[in-house]
Amino acid sequence: MALVEVRKLTKIFPQGESIFGGAAKGEVRAVDDVSLDIESGDTLGLVGESGSGKSTLGRLVLRLIEPTSGSIVFQGQDLSAASHSKMRRLRRDMQIIFQDPFGSLDPRMRVEDVIGEPLVIHEHLSSALRRSRVAELLRAVGLDESAVRRYPHEFSGGQRQRIGIARALAVHPKFIVADEPVSALDVSVGAQIVNLLTQLQRDFGLTYLFISHSMPIVRYLATRIAVMYRGKLVEVGPTDQITTQPQESYTRSLLEATPEVAV
Ligand SMILES: Nc1ncnc2c1ncn2[C@@H]1O[C@H](COP(=O)(O)OP(=O)(O)OP(=O)(O)O)[C@@H](O)[C@H]1O
Ligand SMILES: [Mg+2]
Repeated sequence: MALVEVRKLTKIFPQGESIFGGAAKGEVRAVDDVSLDIESGDTLGLVGESGSGKSTLGRLVLRLIEPTSGSIVFQGQDLSAASHSKMRRLRRDMQIIFQDPFGSLDPRMRVEDVIGEPLVIHEHLSSALRRSRVAELLRAVGLDESAVRRYPHEFSGGQRQRIGIARALAVHPKFIVADEPVSALDVSVGAQIVNLLTQLQRDFGLTYLFISHSMPIVRYLATRIAVMYRGKLVEVGPTDQITTQPQESYTRSLLEATPEVAV
């Protein structure tokens, strides 16, 4: 059984509010009848041009937004049927890493609170235990423990991403959606983050949905690749097969558009 089973998933957004305040003018099928599996321990790379529905699919899989139709089964449990309290428990197992982990966070929060917050929400740890867990997490992502007293803006982009990863790891998740986690970083810094993610995957047995517009990066770290175009899943398969024998012309055009870059 796959860790994540996506079945006939569709998300329709209303689009273009009328200036006269009437009904929305149209709709966009951001995710259109997508089915795929993510096996435990794998990295599924999700590629496609801007607006193809990658982030929407990632958010649907974590049930951060509700699907219009279709289902997501996580560890054999149908998320659409999960009660509020069951969903709360499942949330721990499924985390997300963003392009800019601090975009949505209070800049007045110290790093120890940024990383420790999920521990307060999900585990009622004493402050001493929480502190040692935060220190352990900082070591796991390659940061010095002295980071705890500092604020997000004092760190570089790569360091901030490490802090975002530590926060995601705090509650021992099994599955992580990484939505363009290195797109905002310099190539060399991004490569370090990619290497950190692969190391953490080995150390903690993580499963990833790795969203990216970069074929070279996805080719480097994904076991399987899924290609999206205008909400539809164009093609999905093992990395080797997708990159050397793509079946669809859209996949070929994506591969041709990206030069061979060493990661
Ligand atoms: N909350 C929303 N309300 C209305 N439309 C939305 C919403 N979120 C996404 N969309 C639309 O759904 C489509 C897919 O968007 P999505 O952000 O999933 O694409 P993406 O592949 O992640 O793009 P990018 O590579 O730019 O991040 C786009 O047409 C977008 O405008
Ligand atoms: Mg996106």
